[in-house]
Amino acid sequence: MAEAAPVWNPLDPEFRADPYSTYARLRAEAPVTRTDLDTVVLARYHDVAQTLRGAQFSRDIDANATPRTDPVSLRRRERRAQGARSILNLDPPDHTRLRRIVTTAFTPTSIERLRPRIQAMVDTVLDRAEASGQMELIGDLAFPVPFLVISELLDMPTDESDMIRNWSEAITASLEPTATIETLDEAEAAIANLVPYLIAVIEERRTNLGEDLLSALLIAEDEGDRLDAQELITFVVLLYVAGHETTVNLIGNAMLALLNNRDQLELWRSDPGLDDNAIDELLRFDGPVQHTVRVPMEHVEYAGLNGEIVAANPGDLVFTLLGSANRDPEVFTDPDRLWLARPNASRHLAFAAGIHYCLGASLAKLEAKIAVSSLIRRFEHIEMLSEPSFRDRVTIRGLDRLELEVSATARQRS
Ligand code: HEM
Repeated sequence: MAEAAPVWNPLDPEFRADPYSTYARLRAEAPVTRTDLDTVVLARYHDVAQTLRGAQFSRDIDANATPRTDPVSLRRRERRAQGARSILNLDPPDHTRLRRIVTTAFTPTSIERLRPRIQAMVDTVLDRAEASGQMELIGDLAFPVPFLVISELLDMPTDESDMIRNWSEAITASLEPTATIETLDEAEAAIANLVPYLIAVIEERRTNLGEDLLSALLIAEDEGDRLDAQELITFVVLLYVAGHETTVNLIGNAMLALLNNRDQLELWRSDPGLDDNAIDELLRFDGPVQHTVRVPMEHVEYAGLNGEIVAANPGDLVFTLLGSANRDPEVFTDPDRLWLARPNASRHLAFAAGIHYCLGASLAKLEAKIAVSSLIRRFEHIEMLSEPSFRDRVTIRGLDRLELEVSATARQRS
C-alpha cells in the first residue's frame, strides 16, 4: 500500500524533535497542502518567498482570517480588539506609516554604536566561564546578551531581568499554536505587569530625553506624524519580546550546529573573514522562527505536484514554513549540510521577507556574530557536557539548556 502523503502537524512530538525530515518529505511529496478546511501549508522556498512578498496577502489575521470559534481563538480576538495592534499585525497603509516612523529611530548607526558594549558584555561572560571551566550557554550567554542589548538600546533598567524574562516568556508562549486558555491567562497577567512598568519608564524618559532608542521613538516622526501613547507601548513590548525570545535561540541553535559540525567550527575559528556569511548560514540552517502566516485577500493559486493546482481563498490561513524554505534544494545546494562559506546563504528567509522583514535583523546578526565568534575563538576546547534539550515550542525553535565544558587550551577530545 502506498504511504499516505505527509501532513504538517506542528503538534506532533516527532515533528517537534526533528522538523527538518518532515519538511524534506513535504517538499518532495506535498509541497502545497490544504490541511484543513481553511488552512494551506507551503513548504517550498519560492512559494514562501512570493507569499511573504505578495501585496495580495494580509498579516492582519484577526481582521481577515475566517473567524475560528474555539475558546482560545475567541479569547485572542477579544483581547486584541481591546489593545493597539502591533506593527507585526498591520497591513498598509497603517503598517507603512508605523514602519516609517520607527525606522527613523532604528538606524544602522544606532545599532553599530552598540558593538563595543556587546563585545564587553560577551567578554565578561567568557571571563567567568574561563575561570570556572564550564558554562550553561543559554542562561549564561545567549539570554543575557540580547536582554542587556535591548535594555541598553532603550536605556531601560536591567536590575529586574529575571522578572522581565518571566513576563516575556509568558507573552511569547501565548503566541504558540499550542497555547491554552491558561497560557493566555498567564500572558495577560504578564502584560498587566509589564505595561505599567514600561509606562513608568516612558513617562520618566519624556521629561529626560537622551541618546537612546526610546527617546528617539518619543520624538520620531514622519512628516509631522508621531506614535501615539498606545502605539509606543505596543511597539516597546514587541521590541522587548522580540529582543529576548529570538536572538537567544539564534545563539543557542548556532552553537549547537557548530558543535555537531566540528570542521565548520574549526574553519570559522581560523577565518574572521567568514563572520558575516557564517551567521547567515546558521540562520538558514536552524533559524529561531520556523513559520509565519498570511491571509490572502484574493483567490491565489499554487502549483502542487503533477499539475495539481491548490487554491487559497480570502479568509484562509496560509502557513509559510520558513524552516523548510531554508532547506529547499531548489535554492540551496545540499541543503542539510552546514556550509559556512555557502555562496548564497544570505538568501535565507529566517527573517521573513517583504514589508514585515525583521526590523531587528542587523541587531540580531551583530549580537550572534560577536557572541558565537568570541566564544569559539576564546576557547580551543568546547565540549557538550550533556544532551542538549529543546524547548517545547513550535513557532520558535530553540534550546532550553546547553551545558559546555570550556578551556582556552586545546584538550584531547573524548
Ligand atoms: C535571530 C533573531 C530574530 C529572528 C529570527 C527574527 C525573525 C523575525 C521574523 C520572521 C519577522 C517577520 C514575521 C512575519 O513576517 O510574519 C520579524 C519581524 C520583526 N522583528 Fe524580528 N527576529 C529576530 C530578532 C529581532 C530583534 C532583536 C528585534 C528588535 C530588537 C526584532 C524586531 C522585529 C520587529 C519590530 C518585527 C516586525 C516588523 C514589521 O512588521 O514590519 N526582531 N522578525
